[in-house]
Amino acid sequence: MGLEQVALRDVIPLRHEVLRPGLSIETCYFEGDEAQTTRHFAWVEAGQIVSVATVMTSPRQIDGEPISFQLRGMATDPRLSGKGIGSQFLQALHTELGSSWWCNAREVAVRFYERNGLIRVGEPFNLPRVGPHYVMVYKKTAGSE
Ligand SMILES: CC(C)(COP(=O)(O)OP(=O)(O)OC[C@H]1O[C@@H](n2cnc3c(N)ncnc32)[C@H](O)[C@@H]1OP(=O)(O)O)[C@@H](O)C(=O)NCCC(=O)NCCS
Repeated sequence: MGLEQVALRDVIPLRHEVLRPGLSIETCYFEGDEAQTTRHFAWVEAGQIVSVATVMTSPRQIDGEPISFQLRGMATDPRLSGKGIGSQFLQALHTELGSSWWCNAREVAVRFYERNGLIRVGEPFNLPRVGPHYVMVYKKTAGSE
């Protein structure tokens, strides 16, 4: 059980089922998915991928601090959601990345990210087809995981 770096094709099934249900498979591919600096991660239990997320280089200034990485496409197998898998996965990612990162969080996921050390930045904004989002950031500080 644990964090594994995986191929793009391995994250697509959960992205499709959880994040783009009912939409074509093409909508599951993000710009930058195949960039050399992009890394796809999975949380694996008993040989099964149960949660996925992708980390891309996507620099952004937040409160005057340059943040290089963006987390995208986080999705837990809906049959297993609410059991702490996403939280374990994020804690392992904090360690693996060893640096600050940001994400666009769906409103429903804000509390989940807050419990895992992220903070909200600014006002909500709307993403077409997906709804209200907040920019959130995990700030790596000396002594943090
Ligand atoms: C958000 C998500 C990755 C969390 O994974 P998880 O394995 O369920 O995480 P945990 O069990 O550690 O935490 C569950 C928390 O996620 C929240 N959550 C958000 N969307 C959820 C969903 N569709 N189903 C269940 N819980 C959800 C729950 O409210 C819960 O928070 P709470 O304990 O404060 O009530 C997962 O629920 C998911 O894939 N949600 C749908 C897709 C999504 O919103 N992804 C984030 C895009 S920004």
